[in-house]
Amino acid sequence: MTESFIHVKDLVKTYDTPAGPLNVLRGINLDIHKGDFATLIGPSGSGKSTFLNMLTGVDKPSSGEIEVGGVGITHAAQRKLTKWRARNIGIVFQFFQLLPTLTVVENVMAPMDFANVWKPKERRSRALELLDRFGIADQADKTPDMLSGGQQQRVAIARALANNPPLIVGDEPTGNLDRMSATNVFNFFSELAEQGTTIIIVTHDREIVQNVPKLFELVDGTIGQTTLTAAAARRTQELKTLRTRFATGEFKSTRL
Ligand SMILES: Nc1ncnc2c1ncn2[C@@H]1O[C@H](COP(=O)(O)OP(=O)(O)O)[C@@H](O)[C@H]1O
Ligand SMILES: [Mg+2]
Repeated sequence: MTESFIHVKDLVKTYDTPAGPLNVLRGINLDIHKGDFATLIGPSGSGKSTFLNMLTGVDKPSSGEIEVGGVGITHAAQRKLTKWRARNIGIVFQFFQLLPTLTVVENVMAPMDFANVWKPKERRSRALELLDRFGIADQADKTPDMLSGGQQQRVAIARALANNPPLIVGDEPTGNLDRMSATNVFNFFSELAEQGTTIIIVTHDREIVQNVPKLFELVDGTIGQTTLTAAAARRTQELKTLRTRFATGEFKSTRL
């Protein structure tokens, strides 16, 4: 068996609120391997963003262990984690979070400047290459507000890839996109996973996850065997429906 790239053990997160302790994550155990494309689904408020914040070291768990790429991040100092995150994780958000005053290419260069991975004179050409890979090199010198939502999300993905991180994490990255752009974003992620990047996408969009090989469902603060089985059964049913839709020509393969 290959060793896990991400190992989560007995992860618990409780927030202190004025109304008392809120037990959001109640003991999560999961393993994800290099090159896996995993999605985590669950209703709004179920703790998906909380989970990602633990995984990326943005917030600390109440108890439990997380290892990413052999690095134990649960007890690492915040200053170390910031640097580690910049080099090892590309994060894609629902509202893209591009810097509005920078051009598209400058947005993609920003993580390279921050992590100081590439030589300064290589950064612009690398950013342009990434934009080209997503078919938007011709938008490089515009500001983000001049682009469509789908294009902005492709910039955000290019930016997430800037430092060639082994892990890409998305928090509802298609939540603000139309169906076709969302499908295309998922296709990009699939291609990245095939090339060996590990991808974890959080979503509450059940329709978009039909083609994703690994589906985890967060229910009542845990990801259990039963929810996995239920999710797998539902996925089989959803795939059937999708095949019928393709067969009847209701859906067509598209590229932006
Ligand atoms: N910093 C925080 N302090 C207190 N409660 C929080 C905090 N962050 C999130 N929560 C609560 O934890 C629960 C899970 O939130 P979240 O992880 O954002 O869910 P999701 O991303 O699945 O919608 C929600 O009830 C939310 O209100
Ligand atoms: Mg969320």
